[in-house]
Amino acid sequence: MPFIPSEMTLSMAGSGAATGLIGSIVLLRWYKLRKWGWVKSNFSLQGKTFVITGANTGLGYETTKALVRRQATVVMACRNLTKANEAIGKISTELGNAVPGALIPMELDLASFRSIRKFAHELKRTVPELYCLVNNAGLAVRTPEFTRENYEVHFGVNHLGQFLLVDLLKEQLLKQRTRVVVVSSRMHEIEAEIDFEHLGRWVEYDSRLNRLYNNSKLMNFYYARELYKRGYNVHVLCPGLCHTDFFRHYEPKWYHYLVFSPIVWLLLRSGEQGAQNIIYAATESVTTPDRNPVRGYFISNVKMRHSKFHFDEETSLRLWAESVRAIAQSDAKSLEEKKPHTAAMDNTASTISERQEYDDNPVTERETSSALGWLLLYSVAMFTLPFAAFYSTRHALTHYLHIDGFPNTCGSVVAAVLVVNVLIFLYAVRGYEDAKDDDDPKPEEGDETDDSRKTKKRH
Ligand SMILES: NC(=O)c1ccc[n+]([C@@H]2O[C@H](COP(=O)([O-])OP(=O)(O)OC[C@H]3O[C@@H](n4cnc5c(N)ncnc54)[C@H](OP(=O)(O)O)[C@@H]3O)[C@@H](O)[C@H]2O)c1
Repeated sequence: MPFIPSEMTLSMAGSGAATGLIGSIVLLRWYKLRKWGWVKSNFSLQGKTFVITGANTGLGYETTKALVRRQATVVMACRNLTKANEAIGKISTELGNAVPGALIPMELDLASFRSIRKFAHELKRTVPELYCLVNNAGLAVRTPEFTRENYEVHFGVNHLGQFLLVDLLKEQLLKQRTRVVVVSSRMHEIEAEIDFEHLGRWVEYDSRLNRLYNNSKLMNFYYARELYKRGYNVHVLCPGLCHTDFFRHYEPKWYHYLVFSPIVWLLLRSGEQGAQNIIYAATESVTTPDRNPVRGYFISNVKMRHSKFHFDEETSLRLWAESVRAIAQSDAKSLEEKKPHTAAMDNTASTISERQEYDDNPVTERETSSALGWLLLYSVAMFTLPFAAFYSTRHALTHYLHIDGFPNTCGSVVAAVLVVNVLIFLYAVRGYEDAKDDDDPKPEEGDETDDSRKTKKRH
């Protein structure tokens, strides 16, 4: 007689599987929260002055709030002073109207050389001792946008703006061993390159990723390496995928909400959590002769990890030289009328593509699709394996051991629940192993050892 599972059997197997699935998602989130890490030190930063670019929102805002809570003085370098003052009001409210440190709003638009120069001049005049400069401001856009000097914004704002700022402050930064924090991203490891042919121009890549953004984050890393070689006290980091205004240009479709919400919940950290990496870089002594940007190390999840990217010395030097050249060239042209959408790196006309439309979020794409794959695979396993265990156990009990009735049903349900729990256990072990790998990142072959041994300061 064919076996027809009773309602009770089915509901027990179903609730076993559902409990397992919910349990494992909660476990995964718990594991992620643990892996992302928090800065534990809380020593006073009284008397120390920090400059944070893009401090009015997102990671810059959260970093400012955390530092001022520890009695630091923070210069909030923002392109919009109204927004900076609003952020100060918000911090005061959040900290109970008694801000322990001091907040100073100053105007800085990294998309304008004039603004950068004015800011640097004002900073040198008003801040004699600078403890830390956090180059945080950055953006990712989907359609062509250009700086005042006609560089496409990923290159112009994310790289060249901070290059000029540091250059203008270099004497002070080197003399005072000021910490220079460069906010890069792990996107530098994904489809990123430094395309010297088209540096500073809007180029359309045949990719669903925002390659111009990824390239600019690779530039940040190369730049940090070069700063380290030139004697700066530099720290480079990735804050992780964070819920901030960074995604303001992303217009999700309704089904994106449906499909990605659980994944976003699993993968996206808060701005406060992402800012831990910036706070860590700005306050702790983590860069060492063994683990530094030249050796391919950066801060991620509040610890040092090794980049998967293979850096090379020639690109490092060339990017520096091209950046110097770009600034000099723009300065020489500064009196000329700016031509929108033209090449800024040489005198030939650029071939700027039509406005680019991305269907999906450029930054989250790779992580979300791989997570979606895992989640689907896991869900399929969660829903099919318990039933397979139930029926195969039942078959074995009936035909080989000749056990029928209640013991048979009971044994089959126990088998199904056991499978669910084994799956949860395996998932937890996988999370634990990942966390262990992160705690002890191993340099890859071809690490920058020789490169860094050869390193000399360049001025
Ligand atoms: N969020 C993430 O998932 C993520 C992941 C990896 C790396 N990052 C990096 O983290 C940094 C901060 O990002 P976020 O998430 O905090 O983004 P956000 O919330 O959008 O904040 C970016 C900040 O940069 C400012 N900014 C943009 N263009 C500027 C310019 N031309 N001059 C001066 N300031 C400018 C913005 O000012 P306005 O408010 O006036 O626009 C804002 O204050 C960026 O470098 C980003 O590449 C972020």
